[in-house]
Amino acid sequence: MSDADNPAVDNTAADDTDDELDRHRRRVLWALTTGLYLIGSRYGDDVNLMTANLVVQVCLEPKLVGVALERESVTAGLVTAGGGFTVSLLARSDRDVVRRFVKPVTDVERAPEGIVLALSGQPVTEVGPDRRPILSAAAGYLDCRLTGADALGSHVFCIGEVVGVGGEPVEVLRMEDTRMHYGG
Ligand SMILES: Cc1cc2nc3c(=O)[nH]c(=O)nc-3n(C[C@H](O)[C@H](O)[C@H](O)COP(=O)(O)O)c2cc1C
Repeated sequence: MSDADNPAVDNTAADDTDDELDRHRRRVLWALTTGLYLIGSRYGDDVNLMTANLVVQVCLEPKLVGVALERESVTAGLVTAGGGFTVSLLARSDRDVVRRFVKPVTDVERAPEGIVLALSGQPVTEVGPDRRPILSAAAGYLDCRLTGADALGSHVFCIGEVVGVGGEPVEVLRMEDTRMHYGG
């Protein structure tokens, strides 16, 4: 029997310490500066855009970008099945758009020939040979071919090599431009 299961052992103080450590750890983790991006994914005709901040370049040569995706998310499934992802960098003035992509996209507008025109009412552009979506209004974008996926726990860490690029972003959206938190 562990101390936690033994009614004779008073765990209150230990629990308080654990709770405080957990809260403190989250506060400091939240202070890590991050950008706010949209991750584009596609498998067959299924497409999605998802708000994400756990995005970072992880290697200079080759040019690799990593993104941590919730294990059960639509995006994690599409990225691993479809073999890649896009990262849309957003203009600093575009913070309202991230709120539209915190749930899986159900509103997909297509041209008669099947090209995806808009997701959740936001114009998108298909990029690269795999036609993954980016936000048309993105300040810049990266198109990444999946090179690895590591199941970490709550998240799967997907790494992709940058095979396409667009835009000349200057002022891009960061977490501190919003009142949102993610991580911790
Ligand atoms: C500010 C913010 C940042 C987020 N960052 C991430 C992230 O880095 N990775 C992730 O998997 N989900 C992140 N999310 C959650 C997803 O946007 C949300 O759960 C998503 O819609 C689920 O993914 P799906 O649409 O692919 O199912 C974030 C949400 C918010 C509000």
